[in-house]
Amino acid sequence: MKNLKLLAAGLAFCMGIQGLAGCGEEEDAGSRRTQVGIACYDRNDIYISELLDCIEEEMGLLEEESFQASVTVRDGAGSQKIQNDQVEELLGAGCDILCINLVDRADPSEIIDLAREKDVPIIFFNREPVTEDMGQWEKLYYVGADARQSGILQGKLAAAAIKENPQIDRNKDGKIQYVVLEGEPGHQDAIIRTENAVETLRSEGVELEKLSYGIANWNRAQAENRMLQMIGQYQNQIELVLANNDAMALGGLDAYRKLNRTESGLPVFFGIDGTREGLEAIQEEKMAGTVYNDKEGQAKAIAKLAKALATGDGWSEIEFEQGNYIYLPYREITLDNVEDYIKAE
Ligand code: BGC
Ligand code: CA
Repeated sequence: MKNLKLLAAGLAFCMGIQGLAGCGEEEDAGSRRTQVGIACYDRNDIYISELLDCIEEEMGLLEEESFQASVTVRDGAGSQKIQNDQVEELLGAGCDILCINLVDRADPSEIIDLAREKDVPIIFFNREPVTEDMGQWEKLYYVGADARQSGILQGKLAAAAIKENPQIDRNKDGKIQYVVLEGEPGHQDAIIRTENAVETLRSEGVELEKLSYGIANWNRAQAENRMLQMIGQYQNQIELVLANNDAMALGGLDAYRKLNRTESGLPVFFGIDGTREGLEAIQEEKMAGTVYNDKEGQAKAIAKLAKALATGDGWSEIEFEQGNYIYLPYREITLDNVEDYIKAE
């Protein structure tokens, strides 16, 4: 599998470079393809890899005479330094538009400087730069979703489940003992999701007792480890697990599976994203709910924006907030509607 992935990465790399090297000739023929350079923070991140597949698909779907894109994807593998070098190389090869999923969302300056030098616009996505950085240049855009909304929806889903199923309060003390599996510190989607989920549960009248939290950086294996530690400490007291994403909710479930805990001894789990594996876990009733992080919608917005930037057409179809931001809404998913999402995959 790993070899296959490496081979695929190598091929993509060669195709990309060929495409870029060939662009001069195509320009003479008057049908130059737009070179779109995509740099992601880490392709091993499940949600990001699903989102990238959607972006590549949407760029292809937009193909028409006025806009033909050649897409080159680079993986920063968790290093901002590597990503900066990749961006420099993409620009050097003649890329017209950059789509950047920053490794460090607080450190975009070098990339912005490089792009500005060549007058290449940047569409940031999923990892939102801070406002001050978005103001560095007028050709910077952001496509993503509102973290607050995902937390509120997760809180609503959990509150509804708790009201419907009194047995979730296993020790019958009138309070829900919960733990949180948290994403990367500093990411706009970590703390804000947690705060809003907890606040929403409280405002829905659910009494809560926080037992603990574990930082698992969006990662399933790390979440399994954190969860094993928390189970070691709190045994069967944990009644609810709020995870900042599906991958970590699934890692939490892995921990219980490893310990051979039976259904009745398990807390209820809530995630965010609606990844393929997350949707399956809802279908199998292992996870009680998730919040859809609309990757198709975000991919479509990125592709439309890239087209508008390249051709000057289609600006009026794009709805911006605060000038240059596009936020796609989150949606609730439970057993009741999961089939719709599985069908759409
Ligand atoms: C997603 C996570 C993902 C992260 C990466 C978040 O919006 O919910 O699953 O790991 O973005 O930046
Ligand atoms: Ca309880």
